[in-house]
Amino acid sequence: MPKTLTIIDNRTGKKYEIPVENDTIKAADLRQIKIRDDDFGMLSYDPALMNTAAVKSRITFIDGDKGILEYRGYPIEQLAENSTSYLEVAYLLINGELPNKQQLEAWRADIKRHTFIHENVKKLTEGFRYDAHPMGTFISTIAALTTFYPDAKEIFDPAMRLTQIHRLIGKATTIAAFSYCHSLGRPLVYPANELSYTGNFLNMMFKIGESRYDVDPVFEHALTVLFILHADHEQNCSTNVMRSIGSSHVDPYSAVAGAAAALWGPLHGGANEAVIRMLDEIGSVSNVSSIINDVKDGKRKLMGFGHRVYKNYDPRAKVIKKLADQVFAVTGRNRKLDIALELERIALEDEYFIKRKLYPNVDFYSGLIYETMGFRMNFFPVLFAIPRIAGWLAHWQEHILDLEQKITRPRQVYIGHRGKTWLPIDKR
Ligand code: SDX
Repeated sequence: MPKTLTIIDNRTGKKYEIPVENDTIKAADLRQIKIRDDDFGMLSYDPALMNTAAVKSRITFIDGDKGILEYRGYPIEQLAENSTSYLEVAYLLINGELPNKQQLEAWRADIKRHTFIHENVKKLTEGFRYDAHPMGTFISTIAALTTFYPDAKEIFDPAMRLTQIHRLIGKATTIAAFSYCHSLGRPLVYPANELSYTGNFLNMMFKIGESRYDVDPVFEHALTVLFILHADHEQNCSTNVMRSIGSSHVDPYSAVAGAAAALWGPLHGGANEAVIRMLDEIGSVSNVSSIINDVKDGKRKLMGFGHRVYKNYDPRAKVIKKLADQVFAVTGRNRKLDIALELERIALEDEYFIKRKLYPNVDFYSGLIYETMGFRMNFFPVLFAIPRIAGWLAHWQEHILDLEQKITRPRQVYIGHRGKTWLPIDKR
């Protein structure tokens, strides 16, 4: 059985044999389909790349219909259940395999060597208004790192590339915590490298002055699992941006800043903040049905629901829902959970949502945990960006080393005017 498509162009009667590989055809093979020999040739038109594979990757596998998510072949449920640190999973994503004891110790030491930021970067953070959105601060400060590490442009030097990877993972939590403390007028807390990655982050965020801050092990574990769940997700919007920016061979700081900017959107990583605002607006379980009606009338979207790929329950949402119970056992139940559970219950029984295969996604319950742990709502997208840096860097590295890739430059279908003549302003 030949692995080809036979295409008959009914405009010309011509027949074309197009090779099939990995259940795809190369879009470039369509260019031979022409009416006249001097035609440009056929393109495929795919707004939002809904049905286009732009890359080949070995990093993350998703089966949206079955609700399967695997990092380098490991099911997300096993990683969330068994991995004791986010850095172990970051190593897996970037290096392709789980580290042994020596590799993990070296990886951890390399990253901890880079948790401090240059004092001038600290000054930059302090230059923002107190009410600056922490995601804006985070994006700007990550971008500024490119001015401190000009050697980062040596992206094809493996050792240089690895140093930037260590710096970005190491400094992300410090930059985030410094911007948070600055917005509250609190003294900045420097990294404590004897703590775990998430423990050090919580310490920088919540230790005030010289008073001792004991990291709550339940919070430390919850944040570790949340960071693992958010670390990568295949070709999502922000990762696609990371690859596209990286394809111009710019340094990784500039690429991560761009990816974080894409993540900030309310349809993407900004959804966890939007979910809490929606639950606050609903106010009580008795108001849930009116929100559901507004959604069904097309007046608004149910934030934290739906997904481009998952047409089943997001496996991450299942893990987060269980995690919420562990955190609330320590903090006391967040009353918004009752509203969220009622929203989910009604939505999963309603034909509108069933027909559109809308289920809770990773953002539906995560914000409840963050809020209960004491993070402010506008900080939630930063809590998504920090762990996703490992995924962005894994895809960036895979992309710049992929010999099939070039600088990203899609085509267009031009539907505008042509051949117009310039007129002086008094004749327009
Ligand atoms: C993330 O891509 C990733 O992997 C992202 C992510 C990651 O880890 O990187 O998983 C993280 O971004 C999760 C998604 C967070 N965003 C939200 O929760 C915002 C609310 N969700 C929607 O905006 C929406 O579901 C998207 C953006 C997530 C996906 O939208 P699609 O795939 O473009 O689907 P669509 O907009 O074409 O919707 C199909 C239908 C439409 O109805 P009809 O026009 O056919 O009548 O479903 C409806 C939509 O109106 N719909 C919703 C809905 N999501 C889709 N209706 C109500 N509420 C929703 N949330």
